[in-house]
Amino acid sequence: MAPSVLVLNGPNLNLLGTREPDVYGRETLDGIADTCRARAAGLGLVVEFRQSNDEGELVTWVQQAPQDHAALIVNAGAYTHTSVALLDALSAIDLPIVEVHLSNIHRREEFRHLSYVSKAADGVICGLGGQGYELALEALARRLIPAGAT
Ligand code: DQA
Repeated sequence: MAPSVLVLNGPNLNLLGTREPDVYGRETLDGIADTCRARAAGLGLVVEFRQSNDEGELVTWVQQAPQDHAALIVNAGAYTHTSVALLDALSAIDLPIVEVHLSNIHRREEFRHLSYVSKAADGVICGLGGQGYELALEALARRLIPAGAT
């Protein structure tokens, strides 16, 4: 069975497409999810794509992730910069984790330069828009699928 990657998206990412398009582009989250599903299929993975505005719900999803998934991609939105609870949940699970941001958080306001998520992530991709999710899937495929298996 193809390894499953859980892709978690935090607050306000449901507004992609209309939200600050000069910062986040015009692609919708549904569009990114479709691209991820297609890319995952090509890599021999499956993805489950979720979004929540609720910090507690994200924490619960992280806690449950090892039951059904082999890896995690997380764009925690603004909780990236505030949530010790999310960091603790990510630190508590033993899965490869890639942190993704559409925008380059290091080129933006100073309060976005600190990421609690990064402290638990194996890798970080930011500033490449929706393509960052695809790159994260590629990196995880290399870890999850033995060379030559696909
Ligand atoms: C974001 C960056 C965060 O600083 C911001 O709060 C978001 C989106 C990104 O994908 O660029 O909501 O995570």
